Amino acid sequence: MESPSRSGVFQASTDERLEAYAESISFDRRLYRQDIRGSIAHAQMLSTVGLITKEEFAQIQDTLLQIQSELDADKLPIRFELEDIHMHIEQALIDRIGDVGRKLHTARSRNDQVSTDVRMWIREALDTVDQCLHDLQRAFLSRCEGDFDIMLPAYTHLQRAQPVLASHYWLAYIEKFQRDRERIADCRRRVNQSSLGIAAVAGTTLPIDREQTAALLEFDGVTANSLDTSSDRDFVLESAFVLSVIASHLSGWSEEWILWSTVEFNFIKIPQAFCTGSSIMPQKVNPDTLELTRGKSARVMGNLQTLMLLVKNLPLAYNRDLQEDKPPLFDSFDTIIAMLELAAPIVQGSVLQRDSIASRLEKGYLDATTLMEWMIKKGMPQRKAHHLVGAIVGEAMEKDVALSDLSLESMQAHAPEIDASVFECLGSENAVNAFVSYGSTAPTQVKRQMAQWAERLGS
Ligand code: ARG
Repeated sequence: MESPSRSGVFQASTDERLEAYAESISFDRRLYRQDIRGSIAHAQMLSTVGLITKEEFAQIQDTLLQIQSELDADKLPIRFELEDIHMHIEQALIDRIGDVGRKLHTARSRNDQVSTDVRMWIREALDTVDQCLHDLQRAFLSRCEGDFDIMLPAYTHLQRAQPVLASHYWLAYIEKFQRDRERIADCRRRVNQSSLGIAAVAGTTLPIDREQTAALLEFDGVTANSLDTSSDRDFVLESAFVLSVIASHLSGWSEEWILWSTVEFNFIKIPQAFCTGSSIMPQKVNPDTLELTRGKSARVMGNLQTLMLLVKNLPLAYNRDLQEDKPPLFDSFDTIIAMLELAAPIVQGSVLQRDSIASRLEKGYLDATTLMEWMIKKGMPQRKAHHLVGAIVGEAMEKDVALSDLSLESMQAHAPEIDASVFECLGSENAVNAFVSYGSTAPTQVKRQMAQWAERLGS
């Protein structure tokens, strides 16, 4: 059978190779629920404006729902000559109810149909990702109470910088994933506009009601320009970008924990349920889940590049190139959801190695900046304090001791302003307790944020 999209204008039949080349049913089948929902709304609107009768609408609706159950049960045969999911469903309708089925495509094109379907698919997928992010945030939050007495070295340049509460560390990721959720919400507003009714490119001469289909399909509104809408895939790009940022957060976190779980760091134990062994080295417990998360993030970011390149040279309006948006789009969502679903239990089940961390907390002069600020509080200009503390640290390094192990006299030799109360700011614990600023690792600040997040995340 020839493709229903080939009208009477064609005098030659389709080359078989084109059929296989042009089909998208192998990957857009997963839009069938959105497509059927969109078609039912469209038919209902056609009946309200009098383009089809109420009886015809009822017949179309019943048959589409029947086709939907067959698709649910994977019983609708695939035929490449029908190209995509839209034509498979429409043809199945026509095969069953003939001319009434032939009316469904009134005032509609596959161009607005596919855009509408993808928008409905994305908004649902965004909601799923948002839920996964919420679960992951809760996993991070669940660590804050139990680990409140643990301190960690904070790093810049992967060199030891300043001490922080472990809970401050857990909250840091909650913030990142919150921004991801805000990006999702913002992106969703632009996704959730109805394309249905712009028809192919210029609109239609038929008296349709786009607001009605938009309302039936729970869109926030209708797109304003048919030419723009027919060509627009910004909402696909934006979604892929939002997912890429999530991927970068997950990838950085994975890298961090891969390092932290080494013998060299020994900061964290990842649950064995998420590790794998080696076929030759019996001692190995490898953090493969995290490595795969780091690796899969490349796919998500690569998909964004694919999509950017796909649209960059397209003149208005619809071009068949746009069919190629689906594999990278679907892959990005599938990948991110899988990554997030594994991240939450890993965060929940991993164990900070408190003894190992504590035994090395006084290494690396994490309290040097606190000492400098202590001197500033005594009235010393920052640049001078910075220089003098550097010299004091240099001496401690030479002697291979912590700052708190230096004698008062040897510190005073560098800065006579120093008195015995200096010891109150030295050592990681004192240093952490000395913080006061908003957003810092000050224990009172961290406690307050934990309480706020508990309320926001509903735990
Ligand atoms: N399968 C096509 C896609 O995904 C649907 C739109 C086809 N439109 C057309 N004018 N050939 O983009």
